[in-house]
Amino acid sequence: MSVKPSVGQPVSRLEGRQKVTGTAKYAAEYNVPGLLYGYVVSSTIPKGKILNIDISGAKALEGVVEVLTHQNRPKLAWFDLQYADMDAPPGTVFKPLHDDEIKFNGQPIALVVATDFETARYAATLIKVDYQQEGFETCINNSLHKARDAKKGLATVLKPPPPKPEGDFKKAYEAAPFKVDTEYRHSPEHHNPIELFATTTVFEGEGKLTIYDKTQGTINNQVFIANVFGLQYKNVRVLAPFVGGAFGSGLRPQYQLFLSVMAALHLKRNVRVTLDRQQMFSLGHRPQNIQRLKFAANESGQLTAMQHSAFVETSSYEDYTEVISSWSHRLYPSKNTLFEYKVVPLDLSTPIDMRAPGGSTAMHAIECTMDQLAYKLNVDPLELRLRNYAEIDPSTKKPFTSKALRECYQQAAERFGWNKRNPQPASMPRGNKLVGYGMATGVWDAYQFPSRVEAMITAEGKLVVNNAVTDIGTGTFTVMTQIAADEFGLSIEDVTFNYGDSKKPFSMFQGGSSMTSSTGVAIVIAAKALKEKMLKKAKGIKGSPLAAASEKEVVFANGRISLRSDPSVFISFEAIVAANKGQAIKTTNMGKPHALKLRKYSKMTHSASFVEVEVDKELKIITVTRAVTAVAAGKIINPKTARSQISGSMIWGISKALHEESIVDETLGKYVNPNLGEYHIPTHADVNQLEVIFADEKDELINELGVKGVGEIGLVAMPAAIANAVFHATGKRITKLPIHFDELLE
Ligand code: MOS
Repeated sequence: MSVKPSVGQPVSRLEGRQKVTGTAKYAAEYNVPGLLYGYVVSSTIPKGKILNIDISGAKALEGVVEVLTHQNRPKLAWFDLQYADMDAPPGTVFKPLHDDEIKFNGQPIALVVATDFETARYAATLIKVDYQQEGFETCINNSLHKARDAKKGLATVLKPPPPKPEGDFKKAYEAAPFKVDTEYRHSPEHHNPIELFATTTVFEGEGKLTIYDKTQGTINNQVFIANVFGLQYKNVRVLAPFVGGAFGSGLRPQYQLFLSVMAALHLKRNVRVTLDRQQMFSLGHRPQNIQRLKFAANESGQLTAMQHSAFVETSSYEDYTEVISSWSHRLYPSKNTLFEYKVVPLDLSTPIDMRAPGGSTAMHAIECTMDQLAYKLNVDPLELRLRNYAEIDPSTKKPFTSKALRECYQQAAERFGWNKRNPQPASMPRGNKLVGYGMATGVWDAYQFPSRVEAMITAEGKLVVNNAVTDIGTGTFTVMTQIAADEFGLSIEDVTFNYGDSKKPFSMFQGGSSMTSSTGVAIVIAAKALKEKMLKKAKGIKGSPLAAASEKEVVFANGRISLRSDPSVFISFEAIVAANKGQAIKTTNMGKPHALKLRKYSKMTHSASFVEVEVDKELKIITVTRAVTAVAAGKIINPKTARSQISGSMIWGISKALHEESIVDETLGKYVNPNLGEYHIPTHADVNQLEVIFADEKDELINELGVKGVGEIGLVAMPAAIANAVFHATGKRITKLPIHFDELLE
């Protein structure tokens, strides 16, 4: 009996049982001996100085071991360095407990360490702080005069500034018969994964630490901690085997990690620091922004001029950027373009990537503007997209490695029943509701990062694969196991994938929808090398039946190497390892993008979302009743986990369009809804019928696996599709997200 290939099968998450039964341990669940508990004291002003911080009351409390502030913290070389992390934007990284300066409300200003969490938390309330408050600004509207270009830095590689203007935008726009001049706005959104940010630092002896951390990147945080605290890389081990959601919030080392390590080294004890839900609102967010767009078309509906200018919040100390104003020209051809991106510094913490950062923000504005243009032209919105369909990437004039967007449009439109749409707004009643249909396009980068994989066949003839990558809930563990199993013709039960550990070979943080291409490809490369090594060993065995066999003449399957022409001639993996004196046979290899070859191509994923909303005629309450998203992302390794990625991000699209919003009180300079009672996310009642289609997209150029990544693309088209559906239902164009039902009331 031959083992069936696993790739393409809807394999359930291998760690699912551990997660639902509670045996999967998260960063705050490692109960190491003599554990101390840290609680963070947060600033209550947005900007100014700490004049005095009185810790005596807290220190006197029984059970309190230490209180660290900027006045008594240990000296660190790092406080004089500029070093940050792999995801740090240009600027000066925020250093907790560095000095008396306050840069944002909720900034950590002290750490109480006690023998139990409740004592630490109570002691924190006994700390008295005198501030000298300074003038501040937390509203993007009031700060637009400060808009400027972002500083350039390492992050610019992944987030390049928009392309230079082409043609003569002004002239073309003025001359065009059809045009739309619009402005879109977004409120900030905060990361609210179920798992709170937490770090358990185990003090293993002088200069040696084992750290259980909530992070998307074990090696990123290992390097960060080693550099900051002047430790040897090999003595810092960061583990994150299970991560309860992250979506970008764990791309950078967060301050609880720093504080936990600082306290552990200072006290030579094991220390855990857990943030509470309110403190999660100081860790980074999707930035508030204003986007101005001017699109013009000729009589046949072809775009002749496009302008997209983005004004996006950053902090006073770092220049966080996203890719926003570059997307329309990666999707639609236009001879005359003008794209701008300006940062607007505010006295809030630095924004951070949040699922499809920039893409979801931009495509809401772009695809709503396209909807407006469709109405101006009196053309069906889908038809307008098809009239502007780019066969090559208009922004680079390069061909795509593959692009099945047309198939996405067709399949999703058909499944949805788009042809039943009456284009007239407010023309489709259903009882006391108005029904609206909206559609939008999604586009996202297909990234691949270098990744290193160790692969070995053990004495038992099983496959072990090691890589430092995390699985933040995406299905990475399962998908990597499937890829590895198929390379050797083994069943997934015979494969162990070890991950989430900085001691394993290099992986970037899990981000940018790039893990299947990065670590997946590295597995393929390592497997190839290991198979060569195995065959060589097999051929060297005395009297080997494979002595004369070439690579092409053998197959690896069912725990054996056998002759393709005669499977009864074989050597088992166990026999090969036995002949190697019982020592596992292993290789370590690097997978990396074919940068040179791919320079001639544009690499992107695409999607199309079609949404039906119902809007209550009197109350104007909006319900997304059904949605279909079709995705073109190359080969799908696991249709079950991939579908979960898309439907999960479709729900986020509903959330972004209708629910999520951090409200800044401009007079206090703080978020006033930092809790899950007032920061709204969708519940089951908000999520109805969601359908996911994967368009058949063969990509032989992109990488060895033909995969592009599905972590973010499902979110990109949804907000615009929903906003367009709300317009179709009501005739009212709401240009700010999230859309509040009361904005629809007359
Ligand atoms: Mo994601 S925003 O690439 O973690």
